[in-house]
Parts: sequence; C-alpha cells; structure tokens
Amino acid sequence: MTDNTLGAYNIADLREMARRRLPKGMFEFVDRGTEDDLALRNNRAAFERIKLKPRTLVDVSGRSQEITLFGKRQPMPIVIAPTGTAGLLWYGGETGLARAAAAAGIPFTVATNSMTAMETIADQAGGRLWFQLYMWSDRALSHKLVARVNAAGFDALIVTVDGAVAANREYNHRNGFSMPMKFGARNVADVLTHPRWLAGVLLRYLLTTGMPRFEHHPSEVRDTITARPSAKSLLKNDSLNWEDLRVLRKLWPGVLMVKGILHPRDAVLAADCGADAVIVSNHGGRMLDSSMATIAVLPEILDAAGKRLTVMVDSGFRRGSDVVKALALGAQAVLVGRATLYGTAAGGEAGAARAIAILREEIDRVMALIGVRSVAELDRACLHMADGMGRGEAVGETAPAILATRGRVAVGPML
Ligand SMILES: Cc1cc2nc3c(=O)[nH]c(=O)nc-3n(C[C@H](O)[C@H](O)[C@H](O)COP(=O)(O)O)c2cc1C
Repeated sequence: MTDNTLGAYNIADLREMARRRLPKGMFEFVDRGTEDDLALRNNRAAFERIKLKPRTLVDVSGRSQEITLFGKRQPMPIVIAPTGTAGLLWYGGETGLARAAAAAGIPFTVATNSMTAMETIADQAGGRLWFQLYMWSDRALSHKLVARVNAAGFDALIVTVDGAVAANREYNHRNGFSMPMKFGARNVADVLTHPRWLAGVLLRYLLTTGMPRFEHHPSEVRDTITARPSAKSLLKNDSLNWEDLRVLRKLWPGVLMVKGILHPRDAVLAADCGADAVIVSNHGGRMLDSSMATIAVLPEILDAAGKRLTVMVDSGFRRGSDVVKALALGAQAVLVGRATLYGTAAGGEAGAARAIAILREEIDRVMALIGVRSVAELDRACLHMADGMGRGEAVGETAPAILATRGRVAVGPML
C-alpha cells in the first residue's frame, strides 16, 4: 500500500517541512503575522480556551462532515482561503493546491495577487472556484477584473476589506523580502542556501514561464515579482467604503462575500449592502496586531447577523478540533490559509492533499469522540467557553441600536 502521509502526521509537521525547504524570508512571509505576532498567537490561544463537552454512548458509526454551502453540498466543512503566494512555494503551486481542493470536493479561492491566471487554474484544476478581490483605487480597473471573473465562470466573489493600508511586517524588511521581490546580499544568501527551492521553484519558473508575475493586475501595473510596479498607487485601497460594496452587489451576479469582518455592526452593514456572506477574519493575524481572535468574536457576529447571511470564519485553524469548535459556535464553514500552504510548500499538490486529509481525519475523530454524527448536530452545548468567551460586549446590543448608528458607520471603515 502506498504511504500518502509524506511523513507528516499533523499540520505542524507540514509546517516544519516547509520551514526546512523554503528560504527564510519566504517562510516567514507565510508563517508570521505582523509587528509582534500578537494576533497570530492570540488566534491560537483563543482556541485553547474553548473546550469540548463530549456526549457518550451515541452510535456515531454513520457520521458525516458534509455541509451545504450556498446550495451546494461538499464533503467537508472547509474552504481554501485566498493566498497570493502558493505559486512561489512550489512550482505550479496554485494549480496544485486547487487540484487538491477539487479532489477533496471543497472550494478553492483564487487570489487577486495570484501568480497563476484564474483561467489557467479553472482549466487545469477544475472544481469549485471562488475569486478574492482586492479593490484598487481605480474602481473601473477592479470592475473590469470582476467582469473577467464572471466570464471565467467563477461562482463566488470574496471582497477583502481588512487591508486599507499595508501591514507593518518588519520581519520582511529584515529578511530583505519584499513584493515585488528584490535580490540583495541578505536574501541571495538565503536563496542559495535553500537549493531545493532555488532549483525546484525559482529556476524552473525562469526556464519555463519566466519570472512569476501578478496575473490579475491590470496591464497598467502588471509586472514580474521582481519589478517595481510602474503605477503602484493604483493598487492602494484606503478609500474603500460601503458604497463600493453596494456597487459590487449590482455588478456581480453570483455569491458575494465580505472577508475581514471583525465587528458585529459591520456584519449587519454587509447584509444591508446585499452581501450573501461574511468571513470573520483577521487575515491570519497578518494585518492588525491588536485585533481580536476570530473565534472569540464569532458568536457576537453570528448573534448580530447570522440570520441574514452566511457566516464563515478563518485565522489560526490548525486542527480538526478548531474547525469543530467554530462549527459548534454556528459558523457555516471554515477557511484555511497556512495549513494548506505548509502542505503545498512541503510537497506541492500531494502536500496540499495531505494537509486536507489531516484536517478531514481530525474533524472526523473529534466528531466521533464528542458523540456527534453530523455538522447539524454541533451546537454551543458541545462547548465549554472559558472566561465568558462568546458573551462579547456587543452581544446585548439590539438590532435597532445597531441600525441607529448605521449612517455614521457607513461613511467609511475608519469609524
Ligand atoms: C502567505 C499568505 C498570503 C495571503 N494572501 C491573501 C490575499 O492575497 N488575499 C486575502 O484576502 N487574504 C490573504 N491571506 C489571508 C488568508 O486568506 C486567510 O485569511 C488567513 O491565511 C487565515 O489564517 P490561517 O493562515 O491561520 O489559516 C493570506 C495569508 C497568507 C498566510
């Protein structure tokens, strides 16, 4: 029998394999958060404060982790989050990751900052594809991209709203790692001391398709990852506001999701603007270092808007038990970023498939051990929350109170 484990028995093993394989600058770009990594650690710590309350003597022999998301069934409750870098972790990494997702029957999200064109991924991987949109300051360019996504047949659009300005990732400066990539004394040594990545990824690109580039950037700024974008200001998005979401709702006929929601009022506003879903996310702890853990704010957001839209969550999910906890709180699905990126860096498509398989097995085991046969049977009674977690300040806020402040909040995210 073939061994598909790749020697990795959990996501941490895949992370360690990725760490050994990737240049340090690239590994830290994927692995770390921002500033002091507070949000990164807090995301994990918050999971540890939630315990499961198992029921026993339940016949769990026929259990299933299938869910229905936007009317379509999928065999497990996870979605691959948008990450613009999988293509740099492994040659053809984005397509490999998308193929692994398709084989597992779960959606894969193509990022605006992807290095493989959405059409290529659709052609070579198939499966259920979503597209993540970063809005640019030139709205017309973004709307053109949305039209392209529609023409490519994608069924869902995720607008990411938590990056009004670039995050303060000091480690990237120290490592000499930047996007676009620049080669200097520090990172050349880093790359040369990681020959498997140099030969297997970078040189292979150079010998075939050339230096990877941001395939969805408008031609006005599209460049290779080593070049300085000629019109970088076009890519700024600090003027994004709720009106943009309303416009997108008119332009985009499919499922529309808003990613990067951490405040219950914003979830309500997203519903008001016609969004179908919100993704409770702190970008995996990569944006605002003092942001709350997503699993801690999830209950407030579900209580405020869960009846009006689909609520999904990401940031820090590394174990099946983390996924089970989010589902028990009421999330309809969980997005994973690094878990499958580590897998991709460790072994391309096979590594990504391994990461998904690990999560599937862990979710299944935890469901069995707490006496649950289906996702529908998971609820807050399965959980023990430490320190009153899940009873956040805004929970008691009434819908009219939220609506009364809507005009004020609607003028822009800075409020
Ligand atoms: C290397 C990397 C690149 C990312 N790129 C994007 C991106 O281009 N767009 C986006 O909306 N989110 C991006 N994210 C955030 C993920 O979509 C997701 O919110 C996050 O990874 C979830 O946390 P996790 O990595 O702990 O699972 C990125 C995350 C990582 C780790």
